Amino acid sequence: MSRVVARGPGRVNLIGEHTDYNDGLALPFAIERGVTVTAEPIAGGRIEARALDLGEDDAFDLDDPTPAQGWRAFVRGTVAELRAAGHAVRPSALTIEGDLPHGSGLSSSAALEAALCLALLEDPDVDRIELARLCSRVENHHVGARTGLLDQLAVLCGRDGMALRIDFRDLAIEPVPLELGDWRLVTLDSGASHEHAAGGYNERRAECAAACEALGIASLRDATSTEGLPPPLDRRVRHVLGENARVEATAAALAAGDLEEVGRLLDASHASLRDDYEASVPEVERAVAALKDAGAAGARMVGGGFGGSVLALFPPGAEPPSDATAVAPGPPARRRRVAAR
Ligand code: GLA
Repeated sequence: MSRVVARGPGRVNLIGEHTDYNDGLALPFAIERGVTVTAEPIAGGRIEARALDLGEDDAFDLDDPTPAQGWRAFVRGTVAELRAAGHAVRPSALTIEGDLPHGSGLSSSAALEAALCLALLEDPDVDRIELARLCSRVENHHVGARTGLLDQLAVLCGRDGMALRIDFRDLAIEPVPLELGDWRLVTLDSGASHEHAAGGYNERRAECAAACEALGIASLRDATSTEGLPPPLDRRVRHVLGENARVEATAAALAAGDLEEVGRLLDASHASLRDDYEASVPEVERAVAALKDAGAAGARMVGGGFGGSVLALFPPGAEPPSDATAVAPGPPARRRRVAAR
């Protein structure tokens, strides 16, 4: 019997925010920081789990992962969804640890879901898009956040050195080389923790659905203008339309090596998220201002907003604030087997 060590990376979304659940476009990448889940096989039919960073435990029958709150909802939800999808799950003692703080907006949730799946699966040879959908069901049905597929796809399908252009209409994924030369990407934690299950995230989703209904379309990907929509729905749709266009423009600017333009697009994305999508908070605005003051060519909130981290692009010679962390595209979620202790 061998032990499995699974690593789920976090993600940064270069651009394309609140587009995934609108059948739109995004350009995320997996990062180095993440969550590690170690699974030691045990006798019987149970799962024992220990969250090392929190010093908390959980234990439950594999056959009966009754609902729970907090990190336990992820573990129990993953077991429930793996089994519901017909996957064999090994009775295991799990330990969970990581270097991606919860609430920092770099998708510790998807990192945890992906690492749990890979640690628990008897046979990890499962289609990654299927696995992303499964992880998303954990989040939607067990954790209570109506998030889209952005984070799970970035974490499970990421490529070293690449961003992924994802078209959420058909889940087509195209690697886009992220060649920055002497430029640097950094994240800065705003200090305001964000929580998808609470906050404005679910409310924004409902507003997009209401806009679709008013426009008589199935998804905002089919919207061509905001005409006839009452406020604030017109502003929400304007953000989504503009953001899809900015993803295409960013991919083109990267291909052309025009990083100044990428910086301008990050700024435009942030302005749209702040003014039209109304997803900012004062802490995030302060972090953006600090990064711009330090000479960033562009800075914007990442992820669902209402807190979390800010991403910034620095030109050669400009020095990011000392509490910012460099980010680069790394490999996707992975696992290795080691001899049992
Ligand atoms: C969160 C969600 C994603 C996506 C982003 C906003 O990260 O988990 O599905 O909607 O917010 O782009």
